[in-house]
Amino acid sequence: MCGIVGYTGARPAAALVLEGLKRLEYRGYDSAGLAVVKDGRIEVFKAPGKIAVLEKELGTKLPSGTTALAHTRWATHGAPNAKNAHPHTDCGGTVALVHNGIIENAGALRAALTKRGHRFRSETDTEVLAHLIEELHAKGAPLVDAVVGALQDVEGAYGIAVLSSREPDTIVAARKGSPLLVAIGAGEHWVASDASAVLAHTRSVVYLDDEEIAVLRPHEYRILDRTAAEKEKTVTHVDWDLGTMERGGYAHFMLKEILEQPESLRNTLRGRLLEEEGTVRLGGLNITDEDLLKIQRIVITACGTSWHSALIGEYMMEELARVPTEVEYASEFRYRNPIVDERTLVIGISQSGETADTLAALREAKRRGARTLGLVNVVGSTIAREVDGGVYLHAGPEIGVASTKAFTSQIAALALLTLKMGRLRALSILQGREVVRALAKLPELVERVLATAPQVEQIAERLVRAQNVLYLGRGYNFPVALEGALKLKEISYVHAEGYPAAEMKHGPIALIDDLMPVVFIAPQDAVYQKVVSNVEEVKARGGRVIAILTEGDTGVARLADHKIEIPTTLDLLTPVLSALPLQLLAYYIAVRRGCNVDQPRNLAKSVTVE
Ligand code: F6R
Repeated sequence: MCGIVGYTGARPAAALVLEGLKRLEYRGYDSAGLAVVKDGRIEVFKAPGKIAVLEKELGTKLPSGTTALAHTRWATHGAPNAKNAHPHTDCGGTVALVHNGIIENAGALRAALTKRGHRFRSETDTEVLAHLIEELHAKGAPLVDAVVGALQDVEGAYGIAVLSSREPDTIVAARKGSPLLVAIGAGEHWVASDASAVLAHTRSVVYLDDEEIAVLRPHEYRILDRTAAEKEKTVTHVDWDLGTMERGGYAHFMLKEILEQPESLRNTLRGRLLEEEGTVRLGGLNITDEDLLKIQRIVITACGTSWHSALIGEYMMEELARVPTEVEYASEFRYRNPIVDERTLVIGISQSGETADTLAALREAKRRGARTLGLVNVVGSTIAREVDGGVYLHAGPEIGVASTKAFTSQIAALALLTLKMGRLRALSILQGREVVRALAKLPELVERVLATAPQVEQIAERLVRAQNVLYLGRGYNFPVALEGALKLKEISYVHAEGYPAAEMKHGPIALIDDLMPVVFIAPQDAVYQKVVSNVEEVKARGGRVIAILTEGDTGVARLADHKIEIPTTLDLLTPVLSALPLQLLAYYIAVRRGCNVDQPRNLAKSVTVE
């Protein structure tokens, strides 16, 4: 999704903001732009496509100047071309602005501004803001007041950063619904939509909350509320290691992150397992055991891959903790009239902690009196800050657009939370210990599954020309079927569907022929025998079967055309193991099809618009 980087200090700003922008490339974008204040004028450069195209246009000599803004755009209003790329300027080129989010009343504002004589150069919603700011700034309002005034007229979501040629070393930034932070250096300040853009220079950041405005100059920064009154904010230290945000020797971030899963899981579990007591220590829940016992119902809300892990969480919570649990797409939950109250625990799952729909769903739940928890990876992200408590995933930065290590860490974190809830209720100490031990062993089992990568690569070779793939699983592995299909379609653009294996008979079975590979996730769990029957049904219709099965299995193995074995673990933890070959399968198929695995078309890493 769109990225913002701004700098004001003493160093040449253009190179710095472009370098920061490249660190945001992974988020997905389709054009890029730069504005630099130079000799009291703002120079703007924009190009469609990658940052490299913009750099080529800029040539070897970057524009000089020590205050600059840069932006990567993920098109919402208007095609991804140079005209619509940010920064956008006002009529006279006094103001330049970059924007993430959507201005919902842009149509009405544009009509009114055009009537008042403003000339628009783009089709974007963003440009209205440049003209609104211009009107107030031209009348003598300082940039910050002009921004505050202009924002009063807009509806929608924004993270913006604004420059004015009249205040050459100032950046004004504002946030409502789209993440933004201020980073503090020595005699220099940054604004960015993601900490990864600035971590090479400083680790001290101030996260902006909604309706806050930041004013940055080389030697000072101020945070204001929407009435322009000063606010005190905590400075956060970001401890992500820059090394983990780089590709190392791997061909793609996605492969690196798949192979990192033994370590990311260890980090999710570290310090949390209490084997003796058969339970877990979760320091961030901010809820007493008494209050946890008052919870009568759980709603888990999320999007995409995180929604798939939520489904696994639902099965765990109901089986082990015996708490009625439902899973809701965040985008649906937020606009329904959901039944939640103070006895409902609403859990939001999000890798980025910035997904607009998940954030809004949690806010809605909170407004209705529910207690909210976040299972979030990015420390300090908006969801992490707004929920009542939570469990950090500690999976480390996930850069590949297709979520992999966050998914397995989410399942592990859900198992931790289930243990906590279960041990307060129906789960005995012996059962608790069994789950704790199985969790502790998981990273080692993950290593074993990842060692099958060469075998998965060979299977991928055989599937590379498939146009459609069906993924089937039952019980805990039904959500894994959904996740396997999502991985394949998002990075290789091959059509894939996930279904509960038995549902196949109610429609999808019509699709089965020898051209349609069917991936069965069939470990020896409680529903294994049922899945064997489903595999038979596919084989009877000439289907080609790829099976993920338990080491030593013979029942499904004898039917499968290709098989990948996973070690035995508790049923509830099998998804952590069975998801791995599916991640690898999608990866190798996409690579063979020549797809850009880390930046799949049309997708964004962090979906900050609804
Ligand atoms: C798929 C994927 C997306 C995200 C979804 C939610 O590989 O990455 O489906 O899972 O956009 O994102 P988060 O977890 O950041 O809320």
